Amino acid sequence: MSTRPSVYRTASEVAEARAQMSRQGESLAFVPTMGFLHRGHLSLIAEARRRCRRTAVSIFVNPLQFGPSEDLARYPRDLEGDIDKCAGAGADLIFCPTVEELYPPGFQTQVEVTELSKGLCGEHRPGHFRGVATVVLKLFNLLSPDAAIFGEKDYQQLSIVRQMARDLGLRLEIVGCPIVREDDGLAMSSRNSGLDPSERRQATSLYRALGVARHRFAAGERDPSVLTATAIEVMAQAGARPEYAELRDGRTLQTVNQAERGQRLLVAAHVGRTRLIDNVEL
Ligand code: PAF
Repeated sequence: MSTRPSVYRTASEVAEARAQMSRQGESLAFVPTMGFLHRGHLSLIAEARRRCRRTAVSIFVNPLQFGPSEDLARYPRDLEGDIDKCAGAGADLIFCPTVEELYPPGFQTQVEVTELSKGLCGEHRPGHFRGVATVVLKLFNLLSPDAAIFGEKDYQQLSIVRQMARDLGLRLEIVGCPIVREDDGLAMSSRNSGLDPSERRQATSLYRALGVARHRFAAGERDPSVLTATAIEVMAQAGARPEYAELRDGRTLQTVNQAERGQRLLVAAHVGRTRLIDNVEL
């Protein structure tokens, strides 16, 4: 039987709860989320529990990271279900603030990791990573975690958060966790809930596209443009609308001239009204 996590809605309460833990010498691992939790999130909570004495989860659909034409209003929400899932996963503390609590009237500070936010998703979602970096830094400041756990599905996001932590001298460890997939390979995402059955089938093309490109690499193909064109073709043939397929250095996310083991192949595509992303290591 798991004990219920404490749920906090205000910045001052959660900061005080964290201060109390610190006074007791307890370490804290933090999993930031936008809710509608799935097995991918639960794997992050499990990793958090392995790393620290206490585990905190934030549930906050962050308007700053959505563009005007994006799916903020459609983003799935289920706070009560999420609290139950956090309880089942053994989280100790949940922070679920309102928008006004995190961004009160007059709020005007934003954080930008300039170079890493260019290209890939950053090119197609202007301002998105500024919104991510801003909310993540604010949550880090309120919760003072010793470690923060992110999924590798949002690979560019993970790279940006790592860079921000390095650049600003944040005293915590940023931990990346492997993508959790459905049986047919689809990367778990809260957005998958918006797919109808035929879109759900098309959505598997992202992982298939990565697999076919990786297969060509294993067969000796070293031209990045051939590998990415292959991935685009697989997604388009399935009826998805590819946004990009790119091969990048796994650490710096710089473009590469020649495909090599350890690099990252990243894709994004629209399926119906849903935008999906995925990536694999070569
Ligand atoms: O990956 C997400 O769910 C979000 O981008 C994050 C890190 C919780 C910030 O809102």
